Formats: sequence, structure tokens, C-alpha cells
Amino acid sequence: EKGGFEHFMLKEIFEQPGVMRDVMRGRVRLEENRVRLGGIEDYLDTIRGAERIVICACGTSWHAGLIGEYLIEEFARIPVEVDYASEFRYRNPIIGRGDVVIVISQSGETADTLAALRLAMQKGATVIGICNVVGSTIARETHCGMYTHAGPEIGVASTKAFTAQVIVLYLLALALSEGRTLPDHEIGLYLRELAAVPEKVERILAQNDVVMEIAQAYHQSRNCLYLGRGFNFPVALEGALKLKEISYIHAEGYPAAEMKHGPIALIDEDMPVVFIATRDTTYTKILSNIEEVRSRKGHVIVIASDGDEDIRRLADHVIHIPSAAGPVTPLLNVIPLQMLSYHIATLRGCNVDRPRNLAKSVTVE
Ligand code: M6R
Repeated sequence: EKGGFEHFMLKEIFEQPGVMRDVMRGRVRLEENRVRLGGIEDYLDTIRGAERIVICACGTSWHAGLIGEYLIEEFARIPVEVDYASEFRYRNPIIGRGDVVIVISQSGETADTLAALRLAMQKGATVIGICNVVGSTIARETHCGMYTHAGPEIGVASTKAFTAQVIVLYLLALALSEGRTLPDHEIGLYLRELAAVPEKVERILAQNDVVMEIAQAYHQSRNCLYLGRGFNFPVALEGALKLKEISYIHAEGYPAAEMKHGPIALIDEDMPVVFIATRDTTYTKILSNIEEVRSRKGHVIVIASDGDEDIRRLADHVIHIPSAAGPVTPLLNVIPLQMLSYHIATLRGCNVDRPRNLAKSVTVE
């Protein structure tokens, strides 16, 4: 059942190229430069006309929501807020008709997300679901939605469901831009970038040995910091969550520029720092953040773009990632972080598929 892999988590990490193709199937219309999202067709105009969109979720799904915020604001220019479902439901949120609420949940059964959905409904909002489990409570109770089609996810640490959620949000953001904020040829360009992702992920997965070496160097660390910016700030949060939940190493994710507002105080020769530094608009800024860590003797692990050999000068370890347009980079950069947490956890002898104190689906608040 684990398809020859030692753990479900590893199997699910390696399934991602296939899952990504499944998520896109029928939805990405390259010849027409269009996106087709059958599940929300009847609501598309309502969503396009929304004054704002509120995304509610928990854990990894909340991280996907944050990437969704960056994507929808960038492509469709509709203001987006992202809230933890547990915070949204208990703070008398300002929400009503005219608002669109998107709930994201792999299981479709998370108690807080379900309660947020019911509250949003009561207040008259249009509620859209992004779920993996077909027929789950959240999928059933929303006005409309999109399935992530990632197949059953058994490992407690979410991997393939996350990348599938990000793809669905990417497609939604493009669908909301059609005829409004992006010309068709640009939509086509972004669709082609997305269609090229699965093969690039295969190339990243082939670097398992490089990641393993890094895991060997740091599996005894007690802390770890993850830094990224823009589309990849949520990826830093996700990398840190993956590490803490299965290896029990304390890890934090931050937007890289926030480092000097606090976390920099933690840096010493025992602190590994993972930088997401693929080439985009903030690349040079990240380089100076790396220098700051180095000058305090922190260990630097960098996720960099293919061809960026210069960066070796600044880093203890480099993982190279195929080049891609900024908006798709989260789908690539998260992969080595999933692999790194997996290898660190197994080297520490942890039960990666069933980490202590955690449930796959959190049905109590
Ligand atoms: O099923 P959901 O997507 O609603 O679950 C939300 C979180 O409980 C979940 O993402 C959790 O954080 C994972 N263990 C992360 O790997």
C-alpha cells in the first residue's frame, strides 16, 4: 500500500508530479488560454464582483490560503484577507452579503473550519470550499467548490494536499482575472508556467541525495529558522511546520525582512537557517539577509535557482531548483523542505506518518 516507499509521507511527496497533473486535468485549457473550474462556474461572476475575499483555514491549509492571498491580489486585484478559522469564528467577524469566504480543508472535517463556514453562511456570505475528501462535511455545506483531487493523504503531515490546494488557488486567481485584470495572452503565459511545474518537481525529487546530506548534517539541531519573502513567505512557514510536527525540532518561519526585528537575536553557531532565495524581485534583499546570518556564524542552507553558482560562496548547503516565474515558485520550493523534514525526522527515529499528539483530522476545537 505504500507503493515500495518506507512511509506514506515519502510516497505522498513523490506522488506530487502525478497529483499536480490530475489537479490541472480538464481545468487548464492551454489552447484557449483559459481556465475551466466546473465546480464554481455558476458563482464566478459573484466572486469576480466581490468587494473582498476572506480565506479561512487551519494549519497547512492556512498556509496555502496565504499563498492564495498573494496570487489573487496579484492576478485578480481583489483584496483578500486570510484568517485562522479558529480566530475568525470567535471574534464576531465583519462579514455579510457581498463578501466571499473561501474555506480550505484537506479532510473537509476540521471543526474550526466547519464552524467558520457555518458562521459565514449565517451572515449571508457566498462560501466556496476547497477540499480533498469528496463528500466531506465542508464540501457538502458550501455553496460551491473545487476538489483538490490529490487522492487519500494518509501521512499526518500534509504534502500533496498542500501543493494541490495551491494549484487550485492559482487557477482560481487566473479565472478571476479573465476579462478583467489580465489579457488572455498573459493568462496563457501563467498557465504554461503552471503546466511546466510537474516535470520540474520530478527534477527536484531526483535530488533526494543532496537533501539527505543536509539532513545528516542538521538532524541533531534543536532549532531551525526558515526565511522567505513574497510568494515564498508562506512556504517558509510551511517548511517550519513540517519540521516541527514530525521531527519535534523547534522551528520558526518568518518573512526574511522581519529577521532583524527579533529572530536575529537567536542566531549563533548552533542555528541552521533555511533561506528560500530563488531569483525574483527580492533576490538581492535576501542575499543581504544571508550575509547577516553568516556574520553571526549561523549555518546557511539555501534553496536557489538553477545556474546560481555564486550563491555557494554564501551558503553551507545549496539545493538548486529549476527556474520558474515567481507565482509558481511556491510549488517548487516547498518540495525540498518537505523532503528535508522527512529525512531529518527519520534520522531522529521519529514516527513520521503518525507523529505524537497529532491527529490527521482535527474534529474537536
Ligand atoms: O484537513 P485540514 O486541511 O482542514 O487540516 C488542517 C490542519 O489540521 C492540517 O493542515 C495540519 O496542520 C497538518 N498536520 C499539517 O501538516
